[in-house]
Amino acid sequence: MNNIKSALITGASAGIGLDLTKKLLAEGITVIAVTRSGEILDYSHLELTVLKGDISNEESIKSVAQQVSQMGITIDCLINNAGVGVDFDTEVPTAAALNASFATNTTGTALFTEALLPNIADGGQILFLSTIMSLLRAASADSPAYRMSKAALNMYVVMLSQRLSKRGIRVTALHPGWVQTRMGGDKAPTTIEQSVNGIYKAITENTETGKFWNVDSAGIENY
Ligand SMILES: NC(=O)c1ccc[n+]([C@@H]2O[C@H](COP(=O)([O-])OP(=O)(O)OC[C@H]3O[C@@H](n4cnc5c(N)ncnc54)[C@H](OP(=O)(O)O)[C@@H]3O)[C@@H](O)[C@H]2O)c1
Repeated sequence: MNNIKSALITGASAGIGLDLTKKLLAEGITVIAVTRSGEILDYSHLELTVLKGDISNEESIKSVAQQVSQMGITIDCLINNAGVGVDFDTEVPTAAALNASFATNTTGTALFTEALLPNIADGGQILFLSTIMSLLRAASADSPAYRMSKAALNMYVVMLSQRLSKRGIRVTALHPGWVQTRMGGDKAPTTIEQSVNGIYKAITENTETGKFWNVDSAGIENY
């Protein structure tokens, strides 16, 4: 059931974030979209506000949180979509890859979420774009910084779900499929439209908290 009136999504300039923004707006939801440039190229909508934000930068996170508070809007659904994948073609973790991956996928995502918590409605939800690649049962030698940064994010999801249960806020880690985006590349089997429809299904139909939702199987799976 969709009782969501407002959503905030990060990384809305491209890929899954951009099309999910359009899907949410088409479903009648008011959207605050966060992009590093502060705009979405060649797109506008009456119910869309675009804020400038880099989630790997604490000052920038503070600025977004302040602007959301000033807007006086309560967010029913926070979607932590922004993410980077910088070492898909290697098996050797480097300091640069680990730092860049954790800065956005883990530290930045967690600090952004913490800053926005006062603006999230009791009974609302927080969705995190994770990946099947982060699960121990799917471990493989490639993409070490990406896998480790998202695995740490999964731990935050479970911990946060416990902390927020008294506010009735549902927290979910989600695998969007292997998707045809800048990150997923053109060999990916899933179109952005298919992925976005699957994510919307998770937003509107999942009733559990602290769990891992796989868009490929359209349901909850074990971590
Ligand atoms: N595509 C897949 O197959 C796949 C599979 C599993 C999980 N995921 C996850 O799904 C999410 C979206 O991926 P995608 O495929 O849509 O990737 P994408 O096309 O590369 O888009 C990533 C988005 O994140 C933004 N971003 C990156 N770092 C940011 C930061 N520090 N602050 C704010 N925005 C930032 C990018 O902004 P700029 O345009 O400014 O760079 C862009 O809007 C990611 O979390 C990814 O890990 C993707």
